[in-house]
Amino acid sequence: MTDFDGRTVLLTGAAGGLGADVTCAFAGHGARVIAVDIDAAKIAALASRAAAAGPGRVDIERLDLSQSEFVARRVAALAEACGGIDVVINNAAIYPSKPFDAYTLAEWDAVQRVNVTAAVACVQGALPAMRRKGFGRIINVASITWYGGWANLAPYVASKGAMVALTRAWAREFGPDGITANCIAPGAFPTDAEKIHPDPEGYARFVLEHQSVKRRGRAQDIAGAMLFFAAAASGFITGQTLNVDGGWVMQ
Ligand SMILES: NC(=O)c1ccc[n+]([C@@H]2O[C@H](COP(=O)([O-])OP(=O)(O)OC[C@H]3O[C@@H](n4cnc5c(N)ncnc54)[C@H](O)[C@@H]3O)[C@@H](O)[C@H]2O)c1
Repeated sequence: MTDFDGRTVLLTGAAGGLGADVTCAFAGHGARVIAVDIDAAKIAALASRAAAAGPGRVDIERLDLSQSEFVARRVAALAEACGGIDVVINNAAIYPSKPFDAYTLAEWDAVQRVNVTAAVACVQGALPAMRRKGFGRIINVASITWYGGWANLAPYVASKGAMVALTRAWAREFGPDGITANCIAPGAFPTDAEKIHPDPEGYARFVLEHQSVKRRGRAQDIAGAMLFFAAAASGFITGQTLNVDGGWVMQ
């Protein structure tokens, strides 16, 4: 018997730099993970890793999260088929970077659709079964960019602010149903998300200067925080945002 035996976890962006480790961590703790991603190459890599990640299991679901209506219907169908989704982790994001006046409105909308509206759709799809069970864990992923200090990322930063706000709104609204909502704000992790920086070595130095802990973040650092929020024992913690950033932002 493991902590997440019998629990179903829906994880978006599951094949990404952070998501793949999170997928394997939950499967390693006995969960059934519905691993949602769009990228065929990353999905193939995740599938081979996930095969060895038991004792839980990983079901890969190739979905385009920008198709909001379809996502809500599909997640509702998955929840019905699985006997309910216990944990929803809204982790997928896109992060185009350029000066604010260079973004088109269509680009702005595309970021909000993947980073925010997809989370709304996933939660709407999973909520009825969570309410019936009287148990649910929602974990949103924001970013320390939300606290300020990063230029040229306005649509992304705004989307992360929305995830913090949704965390609080959902915590308040779903608390009476035994459903918690918490948020993780990662610092700087060396995944694809970091490749937007023109000078990778300079950026790595900048990161280490700002962190209290003088090593780069690892995907397992994020997985550990997610396992914590998802645990049954964390039921008295809701509406919170936890910075997992090596002691960079302290608020
Ligand atoms: N890596 C960092 O330094 C960092 C810092 C702060 C916040 N974050 C946040 O952590 C989360 C994970 O980031 P990551 O570093 O693993 O990035 P990543 O780019 O490696 O992973 C994101 C995943 O989302 C998937 N995705 C994108 N659009 C999609 C769509 N339309 N449908 C389905 N899937 C889609 C991608 O295929 C990818 O696998 C994101 O929310 C990101 O904003 C990361």
